[in-house]
Amino acid sequence: MVRAGGMLIGIGLAVVFTLVGLEAGAEDQRSKDEAEQARLAEVGRAIVKEKCARCHAIGMDDKSPHASAPPFRDVVTRYPSENLAEALAEGIVSGHPDMPVFVFEPEEIEGFIAYLDSLGPPEK
Ligand code: HEC
Repeated sequence: MVRAGGMLIGIGLAVVFTLVGLEAGAEDQRSKDEAEQARLAEVGRAIVKEKCARCHAIGMDDKSPHASAPPFRDVVTRYPSENLAEALAEGIVSGHPDMPVFVFEPEEIEGFIAYLDSLGPPEK
């Protein structure tokens, strides 16, 4: 009886530990995704800082150095970040004589999207 009880407790504990383990695993994955997203946003921010900030405002309340260049926080309200990044990757967003055409690497694109998403209202 005592032994059987001990075993039940043992099984019970094993189940609990497994559940806790799974939960911790999911938690891990989530924070990894967030960390990856944050890392990409930093990659993107570094790119726009280097290549775009001399004309565009890149933060939440700065002013564009180039009077007619829209702040990116406004641009993201007009276009979905994916479309924007795609257009940029293909060099479509040029349209203005003042604005040079840029070529982006895949990771830079992802970074750019993550950066743009970080400017938008938190919807996820
Ligand atoms: C030399 C200045 C300059 C630089 C550098 C520059 N831009 Fe621009 N950009 C402009 C101007 C000026 C406009 C406004 C064009 C217009 O209204 O016709 C603009 C417009 C835009 C738009 C809005 C297009 C639209 O249709 O609303 C996007 C998106 C954009 N730029 C992205 C970028 C990105 C990304 C970079 C950096 C990789 C960058 N720009 C670098 C000057 C610049």
